[in-house]
Amino acid sequence: MEYRRLGRTGLKVSTICLGTMQFGWTTDEPNAYAVMSRAIELGCNFFDTADVYSRWAENNPGGVAEEMIGRWLKQSSISRQELIIATKGRGQMGAQPTNQGLSRHHLFNAVENSLRRLQTDYIDLYQTHWPDEETPLEESLTALNDLVRQGKIRYIGCSNYPAWLLMKSLWISEQYGLARFDTIQPHYSLVHRAEFERELQPACQDQGVGVIPYSPLGGGFLTGKYRRDTPLPESARAQGVQRRYMNEQGFNAVDQLEEVGQAHGATIAQTAIAWVLANPTVSSAIIGANNISQLEDTVKGGEIRLSTEEKNALDKVTAWS
Ligand SMILES: NC(=O)c1ccc[n+]([C@@H]2O[C@H](COP(=O)([O-])OP(=O)(O)OC[C@H]3O[C@@H](n4cnc5c(N)ncnc54)[C@H](OP(=O)(O)O)[C@@H]3O)[C@@H](O)[C@H]2O)c1
Repeated sequence: MEYRRLGRTGLKVSTICLGTMQFGWTTDEPNAYAVMSRAIELGCNFFDTADVYSRWAENNPGGVAEEMIGRWLKQSSISRQELIIATKGRGQMGAQPTNQGLSRHHLFNAVENSLRRLQTDYIDLYQTHWPDEETPLEESLTALNDLVRQGKIRYIGCSNYPAWLLMKSLWISEQYGLARFDTIQPHYSLVHRAEFERELQPACQDQGVGVIPYSPLGGGFLTGKYRRDTPLPESARAQGVQRRYMNEQGFNAVDQLEEVGQAHGATIAQTAIAWVLANPTVSSAIIGANNISQLEDTVKGGEIRLSTEEKNALDKVTAWS
């Protein structure tokens, strides 16, 4: 496993980050424990979660993925200090209008609740899950800065921010001497590029903001199980994948991944991960795995180094303008 600096910070994270959005949705607790334990054995020291995971699953009030991580950590032999835990807040976590957003009020409550569910006294990376247009950035950044000073969170990051909002946030942090967003978590894969590459990528490169992309496999599309003229695979995500990616360009991307991967003896999923990690702004790719065999397959992508020609061939197939 390769370890990279998280942006310009001194923190070293594994290039594969285990996402936990599936926990409590399509991955039950025993499977979640197995996946987390295997991820650690494979060298992953970085887990991503969020308070809302997986609120959309049946009878799930949210907070379940964090609770599973907390219980697993307590019963495992892993020391808390060996693991970098990233979580997020912003989503609706109760019935009241105050139970969401990036207000000082909600951020303080959300961090306390995440700490309790995770059974820990600090969070390594706390991320704003998506923007909150109804709260001034100064209010959120001051609250996050206070939480850093209190030792409850160690680094801060954001997710799903456009470049202008990231830049404005960085400017406010610098102006007032506050903790700054050291990371951004954008949606990024070979079949979802322009949103990140157009403006965020140069901004992150210039500002030393670490990029930790989510859905690097396109939610399962870039694994080879969604092909032309074949029935959809069994997956809770199949309809969404079909709607988003099952088009000529998407299928061509899968074909090209297969061709490039053959030279490395790599699967389509591994080559898709190698493509994301070939981007120098990327600190770690956040993958999803429902079980150990998916995890073991995907993690090997972190070992593959694409040549410039191979990277260019893949870039070309989903070029955007
Ligand atoms: N910040 C945000 O707004 C945001 C949004 C989304 C996700 N995230 C984070 O990013 C993480 C990863 O997102 P994601 O789940 O969309 O990532 P992904 O890695 O693109 O997709 C993972 C899905 O692909 C399938 N899969 C994974 N490995 C496979 C393999 N080797 N072979 C075949 N199928 C495989 C599984 O679904 P099936 O088995 O069902 O096919 C799995 O759930 C989440 O857990 C979460 O932590 C953040």
